[in-house]
Amino acid sequence: MTTAEKIGQMAQAERGAIDADPAQITALGLGSVLSGGGSTPADNTPAGWADMVDRYQRAALATRLHIPLIYGVDSVHGHGNLVGATVFPHNIGMGATRDPALVRREEQITAIETRATGPQWVFAPCFCVARDDRWGRTYESFGEDPALVTAMTTAVDGFQGTRPGDLAGPGRVLATAKHFAGDGDTVYGTSTSGTYTIDQGVTVSSRARFARIDLPPYVAAVRAHHVGSIMPSFSSVDWTDDGVGNPVKMSAHAELLTGVLKKKIGFKGFLISDWAAIQQLPGTYADQVRASVNAGMDMFMEPYSTPQFTRTLAAEVAAGRVKISRIDDAVRRILTAKFELGLFEHPYTDRRNIGTIGSPAHRAVARQAVAESQVLLKNSGHALPLKPSAKIYVAGANADDIGNQSGGWTVTWQGQSGNVIPGTTILQGIRQRASDVTYSADASAPVSGQDTGIVVVGETPYAEGVGDVGNGHTLNLSGADKANIGKVCSAVKTCVVLDVAGRPQIVTDELAETDAFVASWLPGSEGAGVSDVLFGARPFTGRLPVSWPRSEAQEPVNVGDRDYAPLFPYGYGLTTRR
Ligand code: GLC
Repeated sequence: MTTAEKIGQMAQAERGAIDADPAQITALGLGSVLSGGGSTPADNTPAGWADMVDRYQRAALATRLHIPLIYGVDSVHGHGNLVGATVFPHNIGMGATRDPALVRREEQITAIETRATGPQWVFAPCFCVARDDRWGRTYESFGEDPALVTAMTTAVDGFQGTRPGDLAGPGRVLATAKHFAGDGDTVYGTSTSGTYTIDQGVTVSSRARFARIDLPPYVAAVRAHHVGSIMPSFSSVDWTDDGVGNPVKMSAHAELLTGVLKKKIGFKGFLISDWAAIQQLPGTYADQVRASVNAGMDMFMEPYSTPQFTRTLAAEVAAGRVKISRIDDAVRRILTAKFELGLFEHPYTDRRNIGTIGSPAHRAVARQAVAESQVLLKNSGHALPLKPSAKIYVAGANADDIGNQSGGWTVTWQGQSGNVIPGTTILQGIRQRASDVTYSADASAPVSGQDTGIVVVGETPYAEGVGDVGNGHTLNLSGADKANIGKVCSAVKTCVVLDVAGRPQIVTDELAETDAFVASWLPGSEGAGVSDVLFGARPFTGRLPVSWPRSEAQEPVNVGDRDYAPLFPYGYGLTTRR
């Protein structure tokens, strides 16, 4: 391989940058292309995806060495970009299930549905340990306890399989443990891009505490599950050991990327930078590229800058500021993954599993996950389970909105309200089990004769820093949600409130008005799973993956804190198991 061919393998472009002219893949010898959140082919169908990926693959194979392309996508709760895919609860709900085997099954289904449409690599799972619920990515975390997140590293086995040769099969994909590390452990109110944000902030910690809170999932992902790639975080780490005041971005953190992850923990896969993350590093672009490569980064997600990236890295190598041995190490790691994926023998999409996408069998597993993820936090007078004969009044915009119940990373990056994907809403699930159901989103219809009320409160979709408290979001209930609770719960005998949100919301004052209160998280496409526990087809078994705060000001509040006094503690959850 020439140096230029090696450097090409280290470059990843966003499909939007090359779709109009895939020949750029050939010209630059690009190693990878990605779909960022919501970056879908015009024909957003399984065949449309597979045709797109294969078109790019043909361009990659037209190079001198015919090295196949690897295509990455954010299948973070199913192949969420694809309309018609099975969409699972976001990770915070999967953490509430306490069911690592179910998480493994979820990711195997996700791998089958993803690879059948072309992408052989997923930027998932997030092994973030979410310590402050004001973070917009809290829902991408399995929880606040590193031991819980570590237990869920079975997700990697679901994606990759566990036996030699599995990864080359049509139902497996390369996984990415992200975002290494401390992304969920940043200090609220730190800002990187000038806006008030906790996302992409600074983790202020001793090395010992960092090893106890933020590193354990990565040790397991590497040593127990052999994760094929890892994505360093946008965030920074500021060591209290060295006297704070020197935050270093993870994208150029040589001590953690090479010293700890590759040498001490023994990571043999490759590091993929986050979306143009190196451009947040200090100095010129050449400084940024050099610092990150020399710190141990192997592949660069430079969505719209791959020509500049390859030119700049070539100049740094020619000038001797990046050793060819570092380039060879990076390329060896990348090509090893491509060999293990079987891409040299079978570079084009194996479409045999396309018919299983969104199948009843896959949706049944997602429905089970929804049921197991529901956390029953209050159940006065055994209000739950409900009887099918109950006369039920349902209120709340999140009762009948599959977009809101799916959250971010669903068809679009930020997600959106409305009937965006096939599946069942929570209301449709209620109607499958009870015959006398009145629905009024804003509770404007008169409550007359109904003995039971179900009020569905919660959030509208967001992703990443957009969802940060302080960026237009709050943990407090909206005025409309508070009004709905007041109107309905004062008019019925039994009042049940469901919170469809990506994180705990402040319900301290409203709780007294309810007979039962359920954390429903972001269930995804199979809303009927909520009714399975509401009506007793399955018992409530879920347990809190994060502490539930009394007020927004109480954040961060985590199990193990001194003077720990949340509204509901980590691990809490009532059961209706007989
Ligand atoms: C985003 C996210 C990362 C994702 C990547 C590609 O900014 O930080 O989780 O995998 O870009 O979409």
